[in-house]
Amino acid sequence: PDGPLVLGIETSCDETGVGIVRGHTLLADTVASSVEEHARFGGVVPEVASRAHLEAMVPTLERACETAGIRPGDVDAVAVTSGPGLAGALLVGVASAKALALALGKPLYGVNHLSAHVAVDQLEHGALPEPCLALLVSGGHSSLLRVSDVTGGGPAGGGVDPMGATIDDAAGEAFDKVARVLGLPFPGGPHIDRAARDGGTVTIDFPRGLTGRRDLERHRFDFSFSGLKTAVARWVEARERTGEPVPVADVAASFQEAVCDVLVRKALDAAATHGIEDLLIGGGVAANSRLRAMALERAAAAGVRVRVPRPGLCTDNGAMVAALGAEMVARGRTPSALDLPADSSQPV
Ligand code: KG4
Ligand code: ZN
Repeated sequence: PDGPLVLGIETSCDETGVGIVRGHTLLADTVASSVEEHARFGGVVPEVASRAHLEAMVPTLERACETAGIRPGDVDAVAVTSGPGLAGALLVGVASAKALALALGKPLYGVNHLSAHVAVDQLEHGALPEPCLALLVSGGHSSLLRVSDVTGGGPAGGGVDPMGATIDDAAGEAFDKVARVLGLPFPGGPHIDRAARDGGTVTIDFPRGLTGRRDLERHRFDFSFSGLKTAVARWVEARERTGEPVPVADVAASFQEAVCDVLVRKALDAAATHGIEDLLIGGGVAANSRLRAMALERAAAAGVRVRVPRPGLCTDNGAMVAALGAEMVARGRTPSALDLPADSSQPV
């Protein structure tokens, strides 16, 4: 394969990821997760995540190089997520990437986490169509982005333009909170997905946030999932008060339907409004089977092509960082300085 050989490091949340790519070819994608350490708290604990990154970094780097069959000194560049994310967690990745780049005498590229969720699709489906619309849905973010140059986000500025975002909870956060209400383990997304496959006999009509006429005027491409989460919690509480069993599968399926309906509706509206024919869906929630099926079906009817990376590439990983780093090298972007800061609220 051709293209630059790039190693990417991701530590913005609870996954320590090291990926190695050559151009659009994935050579290694090693991920160590501290998710089990957070499960008993029902959410990611920043201090626990930072410590876990520190412990996992060197072994994860070694395993990735072994898998790819390379030595660290072979790489053309080192890329790292510089934001957004948990400050202490990001710092571990950024410091590690700087040390590696400095020791190897290779250029360093700080990349934006959201742009990396978009760029990862190149490893599966080849060169990204630009402009395209990206629907990014995860535990930390839910946004609609217009992508005219995927290497332009974050520190580089321009090229990845936000059209809308959640005004309260992220979609993945809603999945995780509803799962907790239903007594399902953390992180809840995959459990709701699974439970929902047995549901559907009874449909509960949960609210679709920011889809009313007045809301659409101000928040046409924004999302809101906090009202939906509360509506589900109230419905379950009311049912528990009567002593009747909670139909977990039906609640899961109806909740999931409400989330997916809004996500797909707004994404296709944005695509039509801006005359964009390619929709990319990324982030952990893009692993959701109903979201994938609904997006494919409705987009086909609207004449929009959909690209969704396989589930393993949708959740946080190092390959996405390496993929974006390789694109930056290929497009001649200027490397980052060695004083690259970790920026927890880095805009895209
Ligand atoms: O992208 P990601 O790994 O980390 C963040 O950047 O947040 O996304 C994690 C989120 C969690 O909220 C998890 O519940 C959700 O993605 N998730 C899913 C599924 N798999 C993961 N949500 C719905 N359905 C799934 N199959
Ligand atoms: Zn993410």
